[in-house]
Amino acid sequence: MREEAHWNKIADSYEEEVLNAFESDKEKKLARYFKKHSNKKHKAIDFGCGIGNGFHYLSPNFKSVLALDISRNCIDIAKEKPFDNIKFKKKDLTKPDLKLTPVDFILCSNVAIFSEVEKNYDILKNVAKALKKNGNALFVVPSLESTLFYGWRLMDWYRRDGVKPEEIPKSEFNYVRQDIRDTLQGIIDIDGRPTKHYSHSELQVIFAEAGLQVTAIERLEYDWKTEFSEPPKWMKEPYPWDWLIECRKS
Ligand SMILES: C[S@@+](CC[C@H](N)C(=O)[O-])C[C@H]1O[C@@H](n2cnc3c(N)ncnc32)[C@H](O)[C@@H]1O
Repeated sequence: MREEAHWNKIADSYEEEVLNAFESDKEKKLARYFKKHSNKKHKAIDFGCGIGNGFHYLSPNFKSVLALDISRNCIDIAKEKPFDNIKFKKKDLTKPDLKLTPVDFILCSNVAIFSEVEKNYDILKNVAKALKKNGNALFVVPSLESTLFYGWRLMDWYRRDGVKPEEIPKSEFNYVRQDIRDTLQGIIDIDGRPTKHYSHSELQVIFAEAGLQVTAIERLEYDWKTEFSEPPKWMKEPYPWDWLIECRKS
């Protein structure tokens, strides 16, 4: 219920508040994966479609798309997008009794990000259930390693300006939560909201446990502008990233 209220509330300002992974993907890696799995005879599901930022990849590459989300307001905005092979349903994708007709392809972009970690496992299991045998899924999730790198980059920037670590304002580190258990579980605040981040090794364990065979894990890189409002010119690669996971139901 809290999730539903939150996403309903930000639906109108979604574009300003939420990173658009599809647009920010520096190397257009997502486009390559959609091309690889494209099949006009196959049906796809957008698991947690939001305002439909993934539709321009899903709609032209599949026969039909079922767009699911818990937020009615997000769905209403997504419906305005100009695609004619997309159907919509309001669903809580964490429900263990979720029933969907299995499809060939699922996109689940930045949805398995709950601070209640068990809910993320529920989403993974539901994706596995909603895939046909040998069906494929693409996930995008926040990277814990990228967050650690961001912290180092921030302190390195201060160091270059002659500021010692102990002189950096504490407020710079507000995204790190007080409770060490949160941090070790990958719960890091994004815009003040506790958000699950994943390590590369953890992904291999939890996907296998959900019955999903990981076929690739890649960095989905974004510009430093997604982290700092005015990054200095010298701040180049390595860039911050989300994890892009390609998996198959075997
Ligand atoms: C960060 S947005 C990502 C949206 C979209 N996949 C994208 O990449 O642009 C997370 C989305 O997950 C949806 N969501 C959160 N909890 C959910 C749940 N329990 N069941 C279904 N959708 C949920 C939210 O309403 C929101 O639209």
